[in-house]
This record gives sequence, structure tokens and C-alpha cells, in this order.
Amino acid sequence: MAHSAVLPLTSGSAGSLSGSVQVPGDKSISHRSLMLGALALGETEIHGLLEGEDVLRTAAAMRALGGAAERGADGVWHARGRGIGGLIEPADVLDLGNAGTGTRLLMGLVATYDFTTFFTGDASLRSRPMARVAEPLTRMGAQIIARSKGRPPLAVIGTAEPLPITYRLPVASAQVKSAILLAGLNTPGITTVIEPEPTRDHTELMLRGFGAELTVEQTPEGRAVSLRGQPELTGRKIVVPGDPSSAAFPLVAALILPGSDVTLPNIGLNPHRIGLIETLLEMGADIQILDRREVAGEPVGDLRVRASKLQGITVPAERAPSMIDEYPILSVAAAFAEGETKMLGLAELRVKESDRLGTMAQGLAGCGIEVSEGEDSLTVRGGKGRKPAGGTTIAVKLDHRIGMSFLVLGLAAERPVAIDDGAAIDTSFPGFARLMNGLGAGIAPLKA
Ligand code: S3P
Repeated sequence: MAHSAVLPLTSGSAGSLSGSVQVPGDKSISHRSLMLGALALGETEIHGLLEGEDVLRTAAAMRALGGAAERGADGVWHARGRGIGGLIEPADVLDLGNAGTGTRLLMGLVATYDFTTFFTGDASLRSRPMARVAEPLTRMGAQIIARSKGRPPLAVIGTAEPLPITYRLPVASAQVKSAILLAGLNTPGITTVIEPEPTRDHTELMLRGFGAELTVEQTPEGRAVSLRGQPELTGRKIVVPGDPSSAAFPLVAALILPGSDVTLPNIGLNPHRIGLIETLLEMGADIQILDRREVAGEPVGDLRVRASKLQGITVPAERAPSMIDEYPILSVAAAFAEGETKMLGLAELRVKESDRLGTMAQGLAGCGIEVSEGEDSLTVRGGKGRKPAGGTTIAVKLDHRIGMSFLVLGLAAERPVAIDDGAAIDTSFPGFARLMNGLGAGIAPLKA
């Protein structure tokens, strides 16, 4: 898979947004569907898979590990596996592109197999810390050889005799939790992960759905998830809901563009993913959740969003795990709110696809917005009814969510906002510009 060419984009003043659009499938659930489907016995049918670059890399990785993961002519994906213990050593380096989730979860998956797997990715991925995953996997018996600070390229030398562990997460991370649980799949006995702060639980829900024995218990130390190793996983049907982290972009665009009225059907509403909705409601947003229902084990609903007057608030640190990917777009909403919005507990943003705290603070300041960056906090002051100036080009540093956030800002700013490269947007939200323009936005390639 070639890395895409650079794609500068610009977004300029839009009127109101209106209409109903379906955002692409959830990235977290899509990665996990392919991994578990390509491990389980029998066929897994995946409806609504996110066909973004990150997920396609996971599909390729699962094929390299001996599983099957193919798209049918009808757009439904089909995965088929060899059962737990059945993966084979990949013949080449696994190139995960921009995908931190794909890399960390797969490192766990292969750590308890008697073979070696090499991982690499793009410049963003090669700058991301993997020691947080390597450390518990080493306790289970694997060996990880990486560049300094645990960064890729790296090799996971799997163990033939894995040990089940009980591990207390030092950082709130669904990726680390999932890596350990996936390593626990091919480990005899009970593997336990204790998380002091709850994070998204798609791995737990899906492991159960595929037939694993998994228990969740509240302990004084936190939420303890225990998996009995070497289960027989059986293929199943998965319906991937729309990604709430992708819905966040048209949602905030509709809030800040006067007169807008947008519906986003079929959005995943897992309680560990809806911190942004909760926060925007506190800020005074008009967001209605319609037709709440459950689809293939995940809560889903339709969002109706109307332009709103927002008020600045303090977003508590405890809320960070439930909206960890949404701070870039929340800080854009904050720029259009009355008063100050303080976002606390953001240390993890420093190690995402880019240093999101620094990148947002710099970019917002460049757009004429009053902002201050703390070590793990961000404060944005809204402009008392004045539009932010815009009129600048943002370096997105291979970070899809930074790119989309500033394109949304440009729609409602005084002057257009450009981004130096929109290619990374395809990792999570292929068709973003088309979908936004369908609602009335003006996002276009930037002419040199
Ligand atoms: C993800 C977990 C989050 C999130 C990432 C996807 C997942 O990372 O930022 O985009 O699918 O498990 P952390 O749990 O490491 O914070």
C-alpha cells in the first residue's frame, strides 16, 4: 500500500449546513472485527466496516498472519480464521501506516505465538511510544526490540510459553488494555487487566460476542477485566455503527454555523465514547439523540444537531478517556463559545498521531484565537460574538483529526483556513470533504 500524495485543502465561509449524512464506520470496532474475525473459526460477516487506510492496513496484516479478510462485491467484508493458536509468521514487515491502534493491538495478538513479527509505519507512527505495550507483553514472556523510547520499527519476538498476568494499567488506555487481552487469547489460564479509569470496552464486548469467557468486576483498584485463555472463538455477524469520533466533525460544524440543522443517523453511543456529546450539551448545544437502539451488542442512535449558542465550561480530567480523540474538535467549538473553556487531564494528547495539545494550541493561535497551553491542559477563550480571524495555513503533522478540526474552523471563520495536507484524513474518514460539502460546506483542494 503506497503512502498517499500530499493534498493541501482549504475551507471557506459556509452558510448553514443542512441534511442527513451517514458517517463511516467506527474505527475501533472495525480494527477489532477484522482481528477477531481472522482468528475465529468459521465465517465472520462485517457490515459497515470503515474502509479507511488504517483499517485496510489491519486487514492486510491479518492476511499476512494467515487469516482471511476480503471485501465482497456488495461491500460486506468476510473474515475467516484458523482458530486461536493458528496464526502464522508473516513473511515480511507489517507496515501499519498511520495506525497506532492497529499496531498496538497486533503487537499483543502476536506476542504469544512462537514467531517473530516486524512492525513499521509512517513518520507519525514511528514517533509514537510503544513501551507502554511492550512492558506488559514482556511480562507475559515476549521480547520486544525497538528503537529508542520503544518506537517503531520494532520486532515482537513471541513466546512459545506465555504466562498469564494481572496487570494494572499505569495510563488510561484502551489500546494497552486490548493488547494484553489479545495476548491473553493464546495464553493458558486467566489474564487480568485492571483499569483505574474505565476506557472504551469494545474489545471486551466483542470477545464475549465471539464466545470467549470474560468477566468484569469492580475492585478497589479499578475495573478488573479477566479473560480465560485459549477459548474457541466462532465467527459471527458484526454490524459496525457510525463512528462517534467522526460524527464529531459535522456535529460541531452544524453547531457553529448559524441556521444549521443536520441529522447524523446510526452513530455508536457506547457510554465510554460519548464524553463530547455530554460536554457540548453542558455548553448549551442543541443535540437530540433519536431512536436509541442496540445493534449487534453496541448502543446506537441518530443525532439531530442544530446551530447553538455555546457557553465556555471546565471539562473535568475524569472525562478524558470517554472523549480522548475529540479534544481537537472540542477546542474548535470552544473558540465559538462565549467565555472560557478549560480542558483538563490532557497528557495523553501529547502522544497521539501528533502532539495534539501543542498542534491545536499553535493552530488556534494562528487563527487569531486566544488560547493557552498548559502541560496537560488547554484553555480557549471564545470571541464574544466575533468570528475567529482564520486566514492561515495549518501544518497537520500527519494527523487526520487536526486536519478535519481546522477545516471545520475555516467554515465559520472570517477568512478561509487551509491545511498543508489532507491526505491523512483518509485514515479514519474517507470522503470527509465530499460528505461535508454535501451538507453545504466549502472544502476544496488548495490551488498552488
Ligand atoms: C483506541 C483507543 C484510544 C484512541 C484511539 C483508538 C482504541 O487510544 O485514542 O484512537 O481503538 O482502542 P488510547 O486508549 O491509547 O488512549
